[in-house]
Amino acid sequence: MDKSNRLTAEEWDTRYKEKNIPWHREETDSPLREYLHSYLPPQQKILEIGPGLGVEAAYMAEKFCHHVTAIDISPQAIQDAIKKQGQTPLLDFKVLDFLHKEKNYLDEKAPFDAIFDRTCFHTFNSHQSRLNFAKRASQLLKDDGLWISYSGNSDSVIEYQYPQDFPLPPMLSFQEIFSSVQQYFFLLEAKRCPFIIKRGNLEKEFLAFATVWKKKKKKVPDVYPQ
Ligand SMILES: C[S@@+](CC[C@H](N)C(=O)[O-])C[C@H]1O[C@@H](n2cnc3c(N)ncnc32)[C@H](O)[C@@H]1O
Repeated sequence: MDKSNRLTAEEWDTRYKEKNIPWHREETDSPLREYLHSYLPPQQKILEIGPGLGVEAAYMAEKFCHHVTAIDISPQAIQDAIKKQGQTPLLDFKVLDFLHKEKNYLDEKAPFDAIFDRTCFHTFNSHQSRLNFAKRASQLLKDDGLWISYSGNSDSVIEYQYPQDFPLPPMLSFQEIFSSVQQYFFLLEAKRCPFIIKRGNLEKEFLAFATVWKKKKKKVPDVYPQ
């Protein structure tokens, strides 16, 4: 049972209702643009997890004609995303908890060619919840399917100084990311890149890891059988 203290659906919803969304950007981060360009041919079937206001979902649909299913746990985020980006044949926004226990809409739509998340995975703040996330991502992908992800990088706290009243975004070490994902995915590429957070008029640069993973067809056997 996952006991991590993640925000509840209601708490995410309140953040969107109060427009307290410092992670939001009006443009897709350039490392993600590069990955989308170099790893995915056009017209792929993509699942975006936690799209917020749908900037990246719309970018993928418009720029590459991908069919994007974008699910968010917050009804307010999805309402705002539809208002901002539209609900089109290429862009399907839906309210759903990615780790919802029963079979659902995503099982009907699977397998996906690729999964995308910008700073959703990093909000899963226990090893077990990240394992569950990676496992579910792997289940929904076709064989050799890709997962492109962007997570706060905890090297930030060592490298940068922040004002006391500037709350830090969620951050993971590479070890924390790798240890929960590698059971289900091979790492294809990882980049250390900027992660801009905006609070009021104040903008701060943190660090992120932009990563690309390929689904493993089978769980890797233990090297030394017990
Ligand atoms: C840090 S925000 C990032 C939003 C968007 N990707 C962006 O970059 O602006 C994390 C998003 O994940 C959503 N989220 C959190 N847990 C989720 C879950 N279990 N299933 C689906 N969405 C979830 C939140 O509602 C929120 O919109």
